[in-house]
Amino acid sequence: MIRLRVFVAIIFLAIPYTKLFADAVSEPSSIILCQSCHGYQFQGNKDLNAPALAGLSQWYSYRQLLNYKNGIRGTNSEDILGQTMRLSILNISNAELNALAAYISKIASQKQEISIKGDVGTGKFVFEHCMSCHGEFGEGDKTIGAPRLTGQSDWYLYQQLINFQKGIRGQHPNDLYGRQMKDMADMFNDQMLKDVINYITVTNMSVNDD
Ligand code: HEC
Ligand code: HEC
Repeated sequence: MIRLRVFVAIIFLAIPYTKLFADAVSEPSSIILCQSCHGYQFQGNKDLNAPALAGLSQWYSYRQLLNYKNGIRGTNSEDILGQTMRLSILNISNAELNALAAYISKIASQKQEISIKGDVGTGKFVFEHCMSCHGEFGEGDKTIGAPRLTGQSDWYLYQQLINFQKGIRGQHPNDLYGRQMKDMADMFNDQMLKDVINYITVTNMSVNDD
């Protein structure tokens, strides 16, 4: 009887360790490559212009990864950063990219530092034009295909809005989602874009993904 109890106790003790081990082995093998630019906890790295990825939905990250791979994003001659990202993942299989997107979506996002100044009042007004797609709290909307904006660094959000405006992103004929966003970015001047980004990051409306 004592032996049985000891046996049962060992099994119960072993379960959490087996789970830990299972999580460790299910980590996609190319994760280290991604961490070298996007940060160990996928919190982003401003020095390398690499955005935060932690907590970004799987459907959005995977779409972007396929866009880079298929040349829908990161092929414009002025898009040096997009090209860098594209070359980094060009030889990774779709299954691995999907696994990476799933893995990243489960990592908790971190609060980002504020580096862009703007008028929060005007930003709130501008944001009313974003809510129909990106959600009331900037949490993203899968049915529309619009990503979460909260939890992202302001410098990256700004850079992307400028990329959309300049046609560096969202101009490819097969980029159906990006083209919608380009039309939106074209509606506002530079200061208004800074204002809305400031509103999103300062109020940090939600860091939860849909
Ligand atoms: C050499 C540095 C570098 C490496 C390595 C790298 N990235 Fe990136 N990544 C970037 C940069 C820079 C951008 C922004 C590019 C742009 O402006 O389009 C980016 C953008 C992205 C985006 C788009 C995010 C968004 O909000 O639209 C995703 C998703 C992404 N990377 C995932 C990955 C994954 C997964 C890996 C590993 C397989 C990886 N990256 C490896 C530098 C890198
Ligand atoms: C008609 C729907 C729609 C509206 C309105 C809209 N967006 Fe978007 N936005 C999208 C879609 C769809 C994407 C994803 C594009 C892609 O897949 O490349 C996107 C992408 C973005 C990105 C890139 C995020 C990243 O992680 O790379 C930013 C930044 C952004 N939107 C900001 C805004 C702001 C600010 C507003 C309001 C001024 C706005 N959007 C209004 C649909 C919209």
